[in-house]
Amino acid sequence: MRLLVTGACGFIGSSYVRLACEDHQVVVLDKLTYAGRQENLEGLDVELVVGAIEDVDKVRAVMEGCDAVVNFAAESHVDRSISDQEAFARTHVIGTSVLLDVARDLGVGRYLQVSTDEVYGSIESGSFTEESPLDPSSPYSATKAAGDLLVSAHAHTYGIDAVICRGSNNYGPRQYPEKLIPLMILNALHGDHLPVYGDGRNVRNWLYVEDFCRAIHTVLLEGRPGEAYNAGGPDEMENVEVVKRVLALTGRDESLIEYVTDRPGHDRRYSLSSEKLRSELGWEPEVRFEDGLERTVAWYRENAWWWEPIRSGEYRQYYERHYGRALG
Ligand code: NAD
Ligand code: DAU
Repeated sequence: MRLLVTGACGFIGSSYVRLACEDHQVVVLDKLTYAGRQENLEGLDVELVVGAIEDVDKVRAVMEGCDAVVNFAAESHVDRSISDQEAFARTHVIGTSVLLDVARDLGVGRYLQVSTDEVYGSIESGSFTEESPLDPSSPYSATKAAGDLLVSAHAHTYGIDAVICRGSNNYGPRQYPEKLIPLMILNALHGDHLPVYGDGRNVRNWLYVEDFCRAIHTVLLEGRPGEAYNAGGPDEMENVEVVKRVLALTGRDESLIEYVTDRPGHDRRYSLSSEKLRSELGWEPEVRFEDGLERTVAWYRENAWWWEPIRSGEYRQYYERHYGRALG
């Protein structure tokens, strides 16, 4: 197949393309926001077109001749959506709508929307299934949910072949260091403070990025038209436990932990049931958190060339603005 993969200069999309380009021809459309990096595609046999998914003409030109579309393009950081949400609405709502319209018009075989467990909101106990109502709480998750609803509406109204794959919290190589795990790894390596929000007891369901990419590819190839599939990680953990494990792996002391002001509207717990994906399509996560975290810490240790330019660029100003102190 010829696949159009949007947002593949980011964390998960670039990992997905590593897998997909083994058997398929891949063209990438990416706007190269602060989180999009051409280096993430280095050495891969893919074509890169720089542009936004909300640009109809660009999308039409690049989608022509493609058999399927996999949409990763997003503003992915919850904290940034709380301080400035415009780009979130533009990319997740307008962008998704443009991709769907053009895919319908060109008769593209299949459309896959990459989505998130956050569209279901927070859950105290048990796990969300695909039947759970959407109840997002941040501007990030509300706009992602709007994108998902547009996908379902296009499948329902126009009969296009569209599927959704919702993942839980991903971690692994090439994740921008604004996110919990890479932020804590880099701060620990530098002997800097580790800013934990609130009481540190919020729970996330951790999924190694390669496992999520296998789930997405399985849904693309074998998912039933019009369906959504959840892909949850094998391990749930309180944030403070994640941070302590990072400290142990980097040989640093727990005195680096600093409890800071909580994120407004902070979801307490996420948990996804992957039963549908397991029983229908045979997908299971393979990487346990202990192993995946060790691999991730090793990757950041060995790839300073990747994160050094980030820590000296836009991220430095973002960090100061958001945490009220300079990056060490
Ligand atoms: P990321 O921020 O690392 O990458 C996003 C990519 O999208 C970047 O390359 C960026 O340049 C590009 N992009 C942004 N706006 C664009 C636009 N308007 N047009 C074209 N390209 C644009 O994000 P990520 O963590 O790799 O997330 C990828 C997808 O997976 C997102 O849809 C996200 O909602 C979803 N997701 C993420 C996680 C997670 O834990 N990170 C979990 C589940 C689902
Ligand atoms: O659940 C899937 C989602 O996971 C994805 O859809 C999002 O794109 C992705 O960013 C992620 O969202 P979270 O808000 O869960 O991830 P983040 O890494 O920002 O935060 C994880 C947890 O750690 C959360 O409870 C907030 C907390 N945290 C985060 C940061 C950045 C801290 O305590 N301190 C921090 O400095």
